[in-house]
Amino acid sequence: MRKLIVIGIGAGDPEHITVQAIKALNRVDVFFVLDKGESKQDLMRLRREICERFIEQRTYRVVELQDPVRDASIADYAARVDAWHEQRALLYERVITDELGDDACGGFLVWGDPSLYDSTLRIVLRVVARANVAFEYEVIPGISSVQVLAAKHKLALNRIGGAIEITTGRRLAAARAVTADDVVVMLDGEQAFEQLASNADLDIYWGAYLGTADELLISGKLCEVGAEIVRIRSEARARHGWIMDTYLLRRRRP
Ligand SMILES: C[S@@+](CC[C@H](N)C(=O)[O-])C[C@H]1O[C@@H](n2cnc3c(N)ncnc32)[C@H](O)[C@@H]1O
Repeated sequence: MRKLIVIGIGAGDPEHITVQAIKALNRVDVFFVLDKGESKQDLMRLRREICERFIEQRTYRVVELQDPVRDASIADYAARVDAWHEQRALLYERVITDELGDDACGGFLVWGDPSLYDSTLRIVLRVVARANVAFEYEVIPGISSVQVLAAKHKLALNRIGGAIEITTGRRLAAARAVTADDVVVMLDGEQAFEQLASNADLDIYWGAYLGTADELLISGKLCEVGAEIVRIRSEARARHGWIMDTYLLRRRRP
């Protein structure tokens, strides 16, 4: 039967690849790689580097997939993403059918860990539900950007017995407030933390390009370092053409 492995590859540092992921990489006959546009060329390069460094036999193929475009005419965000995922599912179904022989193994390299803000597993489930092609699949965990952020700032994410919220910049911007004492924010293209800068009791631990040679780290009281993060973030984004950053907002306790 065809086999698919969804492999978490870490969020930027090739040395964050686990031994389990290396073994999985070496079982893959065909890697499926989504082309997410020019700005992500650096990330594609890292994926290629990982394959070249950790795969012993160069017998694998790489199939680049053109990511379907989101339909901007669908006004509702959830419906727009749903339609986009359906298009991706059709694409995955087609390449699993056409590019994998009956006993071949396909691989999806997922940035960070597949369980966190990544649609690959949801899309694979859609392909399974459509039942047009039979395959088994497994998931190999990876080090997520959140774990790298915590390690680089030498932080435990939760306080003793406390909860941690993981959310998006979009949600934080909509709420205009932090709803938990410890909030990790991802996918924040618009620096939602700026709106909270008047909260004197919030600390921020920010990291960009984590795990790479371009890594940036800033921490301190949000009201004191917020503006510096905005400036450094925008300079770095202009220099690289893209940015990926993550941060923890922590309410200081008396
Ligand atoms: C689509 S999500 C993917 C998350 C990924 N699955 C993970 O486990 O980290 C992309 C977001 O992850 C965060 N991210 C991923 N890699 C990062 C990195 N190297 N440095 C900082 N943030 C990163 C950013 O918030 C970015 O907007």
